[in-house]
Amino acid sequence: MALWGGRFAGGPSPELAALSRSTGFDWELWPYDIAGSHAHARALTAAGLLSPDDEAAMHAGLDAVAARLASGELVATDADEDVHGALEAALVVEVGPELGGRLRAGRSRNDQIATLIRLYLLDHAEAIRHQLVQLIDAIAGQAEAHPGAAMPGRTHLQSAQPVLLAHHLLAHAWPLVRDLERLRDWRARAVGSPYGAGALAGNALGIDPAIVARELGLGEPLPNSIDATAARDVVAEFAYIAAQIGIDLSRFAEDIIVWNTREFGFVRLDDGYSTGSSIMPQKKNPDIAELARGKAGRLIGDLTGLLATLKGLPLAYNRDLQEDKEPVFDAVRTLETLLPAFAGMVATLVFDEERMAALAPEGFSLATDVADWLVRRGVPFREAHEISGALVRLCEERGSGCTRRATPTMRESIRGSPARCARCSPSRDRSPPATSAAAPRRSASRSS
Ligand code: ARG
Repeated sequence: MALWGGRFAGGPSPELAALSRSTGFDWELWPYDIAGSHAHARALTAAGLLSPDDEAAMHAGLDAVAARLASGELVATDADEDVHGALEAALVVEVGPELGGRLRAGRSRNDQIATLIRLYLLDHAEAIRHQLVQLIDAIAGQAEAHPGAAMPGRTHLQSAQPVLLAHHLLAHAWPLVRDLERLRDWRARAVGSPYGAGALAGNALGIDPAIVARELGLGEPLPNSIDATAARDVVAEFAYIAAQIGIDLSRFAEDIIVWNTREFGFVRLDDGYSTGSSIMPQKKNPDIAELARGKAGRLIGDLTGLLATLKGLPLAYNRDLQEDKEPVFDAVRTLETLLPAFAGMVATLVFDEERMAALAPEGFSLATDVADWLVRRGVPFREAHEISGALVRLCEERGSGCTRRATPTMRESIRGSPARCARCSPSRDRSPPATSAAAPRRSASRSS
């Protein structure tokens, strides 16, 4: 039922009603709407606008409405413009128009909705934080399970330097740790309470906004009532964090997809976390990772859609702001479904340590170590870089013949030290960075 009508000769046209109706998505906010009403009833009593008996009857009525909502008995009808109107109408049925009609004093849907979206996001942010921690645990668990495993490190997707698998895995965990920190920082702003700001100008009834804020477990009432009803930066900031989490998962997902190819063969996905093909019987696809990559796009869309809605809105409340909810509801649902699946996939990855270690020194990825070895023997790095680079070129030119010693000129330029190309160093010298620095020294003492 609409919360307005007195100044209108008739009801809204069906077309307007269909456009205006938000119960299809804001119904999700009913637990917070009920909580806000309980808190507001308290503030009304403190302001002398409800007797203690009336307040008790109001709480009982709200509890009864909440029970009907929880059981699914009370659902939205086409006559309801939004969840706020529907719940007030249900309260009036429960406690009668005399008492039910008193609850709205000093509040507007504008300060209500600005508060409810915060309550919703604060709750879900906690759930998402918890899921992020589980994912970080899964990554750390894999890192711990492979303490010494080496793998090819890449830049530009080209062989760069050998690294530890654990090091690489944890490089995907740190961005998620920062996402946790972002959610914590965001929370400090999100707990500000818009309730009491009314439509935009506060209330003239002496209702104390601090009572509502306290009852709802929020922080201080926001200091400016126009800002409190008009701003949605806190919602947009949440959407940004959600998009950033999506991007962080997507980058990890891309690694997993590539590692899982036959050509790379670094990792095998658990059957429970991969999918098959309807036509190709041999297929085992990394759909969780692909969906993570795809859903990152969706999360970015949620953010950009919301930002576009906010851009250029005049103060204070405008109905455009009703469009703030679906993007963040979508972002919340997307992350809450994606994160557990992603964590399960990561926890059950099986790495082929041998293959990764064998490939780690490929592609002349120890060339930097050769240059560093020269530096430790007094060669300026500029020169050492040239020498090591020339060795790589020589090895490339000779192909499989690159086990031969360097040319006399080269030997001369590296002051008598024998040079072998990185590709041809003995296999026990092919070690991750922690030990690879020592590798050329060993090969040098052997040859000298
Ligand atoms: N359902 C609206 C929203 O989600 C709140 C209604 C405010 N309506 C109004 N005419 N001031 O933002």
